[in-house]
Amino acid sequence: MILVTGGAGYIGSHYVDYAHKKGSEIVVLDNLVYGHAEAVKDSATLIRGDMGDPKLLDELFTQYKIEAVIHFAAYAYVGESVKDPAKYYKNNTVCTLAVLDAMLRHNVNNFIFSSSCATYGNPHYIPMDEAHPQDPINPYGETKFFVEKILKAYSRAYGLKYTALRYFNAVGAAPDGHIGESHDPETHLLPLILQTALGKRDSISVFGTDYDTPDGTCIRDYIHILDIAQAHDLAMQRLQSGGESAFYNLGTEKGTSVREAIVACEKVSGKPIKVKEEPRREGDPPRLVASAAKAKSELGWKPAYDDFEEIIRTAWEWETHRRY
Ligand SMILES: NC(=O)c1ccc[n+]([C@@H]2O[C@H](COP(=O)([O-])OP(=O)(O)OC[C@H]3O[C@@H](n4cnc5c(N)ncnc54)[C@H](O)[C@@H]3O)[C@@H](O)[C@H]2O)c1
Repeated sequence: MILVTGGAGYIGSHYVDYAHKKGSEIVVLDNLVYGHAEAVKDSATLIRGDMGDPKLLDELFTQYKIEAVIHFAAYAYVGESVKDPAKYYKNNTVCTLAVLDAMLRHNVNNFIFSSSCATYGNPHYIPMDEAHPQDPINPYGETKFFVEKILKAYSRAYGLKYTALRYFNAVGAAPDGHIGESHDPETHLLPLILQTALGKRDSISVFGTDYDTPDGTCIRDYIHILDIAQAHDLAMQRLQSGGESAFYNLGTEKGTSVREAIVACEKVSGKPIKVKEEPRREGDPPRLVASAAKAKSELGWKPAYDDFEEIIRTAWEWETHRRY
């Protein structure tokens, strides 16, 4: 049995669906502050509760035969983390300690962590590999960086084994459209563009059109959600067969600009998308592109989605038939 914290959220629910289809038994712990019970109703046992509650964690570890924990639960709004850092340090770091300590109490050793490219801060070079300096530029990125440091220390001191996966930008949905991205508020670019195409929003704001990039807009690395799910599965197999603790980037190694994303969404949706050009936002690096060579060679990870329009088609299918 695998315990998946935050499994009712966007990335977690896609992992749970993927692992369930491969025969894994999963218990999800999610307080549903941002998650959706419907997203896991066919694929896992859902326990509604907070990961910061040691009593609940003890009950879970006692009731279920948990062999490993995959830890997606966190708050993930960068802007909010700047305005209300206490909320982020507490939930993402202090509550993660509660999960790790419960694992130690119950002799559960294998942990997979949703880290982020936000731990790197401003890029010194592109593509960014795992050796890139880590200097986060917002409290959200710091919470993820702190947890990475805690994992190293827990591993040294208590023998915990971990894999931290540093995702770049997660996008897309299950190709059959039964689960997908549903954040409230939504801040991610692709759903915002597609909701504009559907007429649910008047326009898509493009923040900064004068960056030193070919079309002046920011470039990001958009990785499909099922490729992220596959990487978790491979990371779990590696840990369970004695692999060492490690950090891996998950990205496509390709950059797509905001304008390119809009053009691709117009093509996939067949609808014109109104753009509103706005000033640059503070703290937005012009380019973030991963090197994922390490995950490919050590995990045997083979991302299936390398065509950006194909990725958008999965998100469009979801966006046009959303269930939650
Ligand atoms: N979306 C991305 O592009 C991206 C990129 C890098 C890293 N990440 C990380 O991946 C993870 C999942 O991101 P997501 O986009 O699926 O976010 P999400 O908000 O959809 O999912 C997070 C889930 O965690 C739950 N949760 C939060 N705090 C909790 C708590 N104290 N107890 C129990 N449940 C709690 C929420 O209800 C939600 O269901 C997060 O850790 C995020 O920081 C996401």
